Amino acid sequence: MQPRLIQVDRADPSASRDELLRGLQADPAAIPPKYFYDALGARLFAAITELPEYYPTRTEAAIFARHAEAMARLLPAFAALVDLGAGNCEKAARLFAAFGVRRYVAVDISVDYLRESLDVLRHQHPRLDLLGVGLDFSSRLDLPAAVGEGPRLLFYPGSSIGNFAPADALAFLRQARAAAQGGALLIGVDLVKPVDVLEAAYDDPLGVTAAFNRNLLRHVRRVASADFSLTDWRHVAFFNDAESRIEMHLEAVRDVAVRWPGGARRFAAGARIHTENSYKWRLADFAALLDSAGFGDLHHWTDDNDWFAVFLARA
Ligand code: AVJ
Repeated sequence: MQPRLIQVDRADPSASRDELLRGLQADPAAIPPKYFYDALGARLFAAITELPEYYPTRTEAAIFARHAEAMARLLPAFAALVDLGAGNCEKAARLFAAFGVRRYVAVDISVDYLRESLDVLRHQHPRLDLLGVGLDFSSRLDLPAAVGEGPRLLFYPGSSIGNFAPADALAFLRQARAAAQGGALLIGVDLVKPVDVLEAAYDDPLGVTAAFNRNLLRHVRRVASADFSLTDWRHVAFFNDAESRIEMHLEAVRDVAVRWPGGARRFAAGARIHTENSYKWRLADFAALLDSAGFGDLHHWTDDNDWFAVFLARA
């Protein structure tokens, strides 16, 4: 079937500029991680997932490969598989057969990211009902009526939930429960593990994660016309044990002044811009979070090291 495509949230360059400049002027300075993903950023992230040090993607894929049949047996009936942050749609597509998917809804910030992926899927799965939705669900998960009635299986892999602080993760999961309309949630969650493993995954020796982080400044330069010089900034990543999160920052290597139309800010050598939090959960704490969000009938699967978990929860 021909994929249907809907853009719900229009990209608004002036809203993005305002958000970026507010973040740059905040104390401490911060840039939301969604700005990593311009065209080059999306490719750099894809390269990260190929790194030997970045365990989450392949660990999660192995869990799905090993347990998809068991997951399928526990799934409630659902009318649509809704993929939150679908990108190339590959993770979901590997589950179509085992889960008996008939309607697939790919959601991402821009339908432009989905057009090509859905076109490939159309040829591989000619009878599948395909819908692409352009929606920034990071602030509000409000699925359009075109998704159709009936229970939904919400699919949120990759530990993208890790970008939310616990209170925001709870708010997001409550919205996900409502959006599932009596269906279920299948979610990937990265777990606490030895700090050397965590830190290597976010500060790889090849420097791909550093490039991914520093690429943010190209994006800010373009969207907010701020005159960042990339050579003034270095990548910093570490595990904050008290907050149970990897933090990524950009650190000024010398005193720098950044100017943009109508404003400027000085950063002393060593000053940082906070660019990402990636929370790492304990199994019991994430189960409690799902419970607080109103989910029930919890199941989870992990790898042999308990490095990553996939939870299935009834909405
Ligand atoms: C896409 C948010 C799951 O936190 O591991 C990878 C992003 N940042 N390396 C993660 C990321 C640096 C990734 N998520």
